[in-house]
Amino acid sequence: MITVIGSMNMDLVTITNREPALGETVLGENFLTVPGGKGANQAVAAGKLGAPVKMIGCVGDDLFGEQYINHLKGHQINIEHIRSLKNEKTGIASITVWNNDNKIIVVPGANKRITPEMVESHREEILKSSWLLLQFEIPLESVEKALEIAAEGDVNVIVNPAPYHEIPNHWLEKITYLTPNEAEAQQLLSSFANMSSLLPKLIITKGKAGAELFEDGEKVLIPAPKVEAVDTTGAGDTFNGALAVGLFEGMYLKEACQFAVKAASLSVTKLGAQAGMPNRDEL
Ligand code: RIB
Repeated sequence: MITVIGSMNMDLVTITNREPALGETVLGENFLTVPGGKGANQAVAAGKLGAPVKMIGCVGDDLFGEQYINHLKGHQINIEHIRSLKNEKTGIASITVWNNDNKIIVVPGANKRITPEMVESHREEILKSSWLLLQFEIPLESVEKALEIAAEGDVNVIVNPAPYHEIPNHWLEKITYLTPNEAEAQQLLSSFANMSSLLPKLIITKGKAGAELFEDGEKVLIPAPKVEAVDTTGAGDTFNGALAVGLFEGMYLKEACQFAVKAASLSVTKLGAQAGMPNRDEL
């Protein structure tokens, strides 16, 4: 089983040909409301590729929360451990897409209520998993709690340090792979003294250039196929979900990265974080 503990946001996406300057109004091209959030995106990416996936997360008792849970029912994801919290708002992400790229502001809402105590209440579920996926859109104390529980058992952990926050050195021994993008990797590399323990765990996603891993301290580039990019939102999440699937199925790291790079490349060909995530046949 692959378990994801993470965020669920409703993405409010505006497509524009031009970004407004401060104080300026411009007319946009399109607007859509679609499910997102790094946690649920990674769960959906893994589920679409056919792996058994369990999602642990929170939504509010509002329309977005209800819509999100209904949306996940259409995917092969175990949603038993998603809580709908009273008097709370579902997390949202305000996303502007232009020029084949995006800018995102997240308002966490219910995602902030994934507390260490809530993680602790899922101890058994975590320990039953063979891979655990974590990101930083939930409180960091809760990420730490999940790492501690996973380390007590035989659970491999992928940490996607996004949005970036410094990683305490003592977390590293509890992490199997760390998957920053290029900007996050720069910050990560400058905050770690001991490269020999960091590099073997590092997989850097590099957008259309693919991904990079390290073998015996040497960089190995996994190139990406050329695609027509429409919206890059969720590409990193697709990479993480697919990477977990590859490793769960027993692929070697390089092979799992190739699989994940291909999935992430396909994901950018449609609008919305989850719409372009490929199923197995498409991949
Ligand atoms: O990684 C993409 C995701 O980041 C979006 O779906 C948005 O919800 C933000 O969390």
